[in-house]
Amino acid sequence: MKPASLQDSEPLLRVEGLTKVFHTSAGTVQALSEVSFDVPRGSMLGLVGESGSGKTTLGRCVLRLVEPTAGKIVFDGTDITKLDARGLKAMRKRMQIIFQDPYSSFNPRMRVRQIIGEALIAHGIGRNRRERNDIAAGLLQEVGLSPDHLSRFPHEFSGGQRQRIGLARALAVEPEFLVADESVSALDVSVQAQILNLLQDLRDRRGLTILFIAHDLSVVEYLCDETVVLYLGRIAELGDSAAIYGAPAHPYTRALLSSIPAIDPARRGTREVLAGDIPSPLSPPSGCVFRTRCPNVIARCGDVVPALETVRTANHKAACIRVADLNV
Ligand SMILES: Nc1ncnc2c1ncn2[C@@H]1O[C@H](COP(=O)(O)OP(=O)(O)O)[C@@H](O)[C@H]1O
Ligand SMILES: [Mg+2]
Repeated sequence: MKPASLQDSEPLLRVEGLTKVFHTSAGTVQALSEVSFDVPRGSMLGLVGESGSGKTTLGRCVLRLVEPTAGKIVFDGTDITKLDARGLKAMRKRMQIIFQDPYSSFNPRMRVRQIIGEALIAHGIGRNRRERNDIAAGLLQEVGLSPDHLSRFPHEFSGGQRQRIGLARALAVEPEFLVADESVSALDVSVQAQILNLLQDLRDRRGLTILFIAHDLSVVEYLCDETVVLYLGRIAELGDSAAIYGAPAHPYTRALLSSIPAIDPARRGTREVLAGDIPSPLSPPSGCVFRTRCPNVIARCGDVVPALETVRTANHKAACIRVADLNV
């Protein structure tokens, strides 16, 4: 056993050299390449990037819903890539995922009572139906719904309410860690804000650690302590959200940020428009994967895969060989 002080400073989740390759009929898809980052206990970390950058694959690898090709997923000191089925089941109780569209993961013929009840039964929570009902009613209240909703079917709810039910189901097993994969992306802005506030409340109240996946950077900026920016399966930039949003160092992050309506245009600097589409992961560019769309590209960018280097503060890194010239 390590001393308590050391245990507290250990991140709840450590992703190390995570690589995922899909073999498809069209060829080999490099979905993630040597991705490493930590999620400190009780924090919310934002994972952002355009569609196809590998966010969902990463979120699913972390729960081992997708088998990583290489790398470690260390959760509370245990590398879950090494666990057998039994060890994994025990670990899964501690980690839950909620999706963009919870509707597709609900059985339409089940009432909310059964949807939540199933999760409780799967993990041996509640001694009988009555106890499970009470737990489910409490969970609905915790996510801002009413116990009356227990007897309703999924189609009777709005998108925001369905997200709340998905959250109640995830919370049923009292997880420590939650992956929210584009959980608010399909909702109206006002409903988004309500769900984001709820996530924040839950983090504070339950001490949850959250990996929050989004393509909308403005949402992450407001919500997350730290941010990881993914591009074509590689980390472009990561660190404290305040540093990244205040002074983005990687040309990709700068372009992403200037594509959202600025609250404070002065802070965003000059507008850099991201040209073209994300290249096919079947044949990614050599060297820096971003070079084909980068406004600051030089010949050497095709030769070397840039390593993550510290920008200004300790907890801010960017993978760009020009990071020093661009951030003087
Ligand atoms: N099961 C799969 N089989 C083959 N390719 C996949 C599979 N899942 C994802 N991919 C590919 O991996 C890349 C990353 O996808 P994904 O993780 O869904 O990105 P994001 O969530 O950022 O949009 C994409 O090129 C996607 O087509
Ligand atoms: Mg996705």
